Amino acid sequence: TPLLVPPAMSRSSDGPVGVDYYEIALSQIDQQILPAGLPPTPVWGYGTEIGLTNAPSYSIEATTGRPVRIKWINKLVNENGTYLPHLLPVDPTLHWANPGGGPGGTDTRPDFTGRTFVPLEQFRDPEEQYTTYQGPVPMVVHLHGAVGVGDESDGYPEAWTLPDASDIPEGYATGGRWRDFFRTAAKDRLGLEWADGYAVVQYPNAQRPATLWFHDHTLGMTRVNVYAGPAGFFLLRDPRGDHGTITVRRSGAPAVLPGPAPQRGDPEGRTYYEIPLAIQDRSFNADGSLFYPDTRAFFDGTTGPYIPDGDISPVFNPEVFGNMIMVNGRTWPYHQVEQRRYRLRLLNGCDARTLIVDFSGIPEVDVWQIGNDGGLLPAPVHLTTATKNKALLAPAERADLIVDFTGVPVGSHQLRNVGPDAPYGSGRFKAADPSTTGRIMQFRVVPATTRDPSTPPADLVLPPVEPLPTATSTRKLSLTEQTSETADIPVTAMLGTVDDKGETHHLEWSAPVEVNPAATATEVWEIYNTTMDAHPIHVHEVTFEVVNRQPISVTEPTEEGHSPMVAVPSGTVPKPPQVWELGRKETVIAYPGEVTRIRLHFPDTGGQFVWHCHILEHEDNEMMLPLRIGLDDT
Ligand code: C2O
Ligand code: CU
Repeated sequence: TPLLVPPAMSRSSDGPVGVDYYEIALSQIDQQILPAGLPPTPVWGYGTEIGLTNAPSYSIEATTGRPVRIKWINKLVNENGTYLPHLLPVDPTLHWANPGGGPGGTDTRPDFTGRTFVPLEQFRDPEEQYTTYQGPVPMVVHLHGAVGVGDESDGYPEAWTLPDASDIPEGYATGGRWRDFFRTAAKDRLGLEWADGYAVVQYPNAQRPATLWFHDHTLGMTRVNVYAGPAGFFLLRDPRGDHGTITVRRSGAPAVLPGPAPQRGDPEGRTYYEIPLAIQDRSFNADGSLFYPDTRAFFDGTTGPYIPDGDISPVFNPEVFGNMIMVNGRTWPYHQVEQRRYRLRLLNGCDARTLIVDFSGIPEVDVWQIGNDGGLLPAPVHLTTATKNKALLAPAERADLIVDFTGVPVGSHQLRNVGPDAPYGSGRFKAADPSTTGRIMQFRVVPATTRDPSTPPADLVLPPVEPLPTATSTRKLSLTEQTSETADIPVTAMLGTVDDKGETHHLEWSAPVEVNPAATATEVWEIYNTTMDAHPIHVHEVTFEVVNRQPISVTEPTEEGHSPMVAVPSGTVPKPPQVWELGRKETVIAYPGEVTRIRLHFPDTGGQFVWHCHILEHEDNEMMLPLRIGLDDT
């Protein structure tokens, strides 16, 4: 399939002065993801109108210092106004949005970590089997990488809304528990009006330029919502253009990066030298529809679907790996490139798969990384020498690359993935299948048609990254594996704290908030990973510095009711961050058997945000906690 270079999203004309205003709806479309001749795939995409809707969506072009206001509309409805059910199996036994669960969507049953399912009658058939949720679909949008956003605009997982459909069942909550709270805040702080089926939010863009992206963030169903399509790039640039802040070594003149990127009003067929690439794994059914497993048996053969009084979710899979790779919503695409430099902005948009994007199969290619998820690096990193042309990307991480095809022979060359078809960082390494998930896309190299005006990456001087203030406190946090008590299998990993003695304490989403830094505080977080997998840990509202990583010892508890103990053995030495993790980050890989230290500085505007693992299946099953900045714990 030919690669789709996502065009720039068009704005709405009726926004206020000084603000970019968009009206963006999430709707269901049939998209030709698979090669022509195979059936189209029903997906959900964000778009300004149906004909301009894609999964992932067209890109939002934004400028630092200029706010973007968006009316996010949940249009998951049929033509006659009735609601559309989910495209994928929603497990009703997780702690999730659960619109039918009671007033405000409050889930009143004990959480599964309470070790007992109290079956909800509506999801249980006479044989005590759960069925998946078939009701109207909640959604809420998060701008991933946004810094200093008001919490009303951050897409809190319990601020979801149902579509404004004509047949919402009696007794259903049309919004999440926190929606009214944030709706009032949006009105009071920004004068924004929300109603059934939409929210209007605003992003200040008072942060460094970076490759941001937006996606659904609904409690307990982000994995299936995002898998169905809702995601897109938000490219935040300096008002002088990206060239404005970067200079050429020795001469000090403004540098030229490969471009242009798509802009509003571009003529058809324009050639782009800056291209965002959203890489996602997916599986499909023979009829073209998306495949996502509907039973835990798919994962490990655990027989379900429901063990009475058990604690294993019947539908949920702890990780899901697709068997095909899709780039910008097309499977294994090809793209024609000239023998010159390109700026490729990579996003790992997979639910669970860590990618190792490998350019080494492209002869004579030269690859530089100039940015990560926190924006530009302090200096360009020559990946060709540092990693033999590989870029490591856990879910949600981005890499801003300059890829030089100048010396690459004319012909077709493959971009590969050498990450695992399994969770990353564990002994469970299983190399991606070179004939399927080991392939990403194909570059068809042709001679250059014009001179390449871009600055050689080795000559780029990137703007200095201001160091964060010295930390005044250290917060010890833990990642722990929770094992079933009714069958000896892992159920999920959880976030938590570490006490003074080194004992870990996992916390549920609904527990009293313990991660509550003061406004303007600077903290070091020590994240102790006692599990067997690497977890990409993402913190909302800030970008942070990766300080270091260090091996830890983990002691399993001997007494009933206790949790693993962690310690940093004397004699071990902290490892500095990787060169591509310098500058700022907002998602960091926490490796098993290590403590990962990050330094965070919190903004002066308080609010309720989240931090979580960005393996979406983990996030959905209790690997997410509130982050309460500068508020009393009430
Ligand atoms: Cu990309 Cu909290 O998410
Ligand atoms: Cu995780």
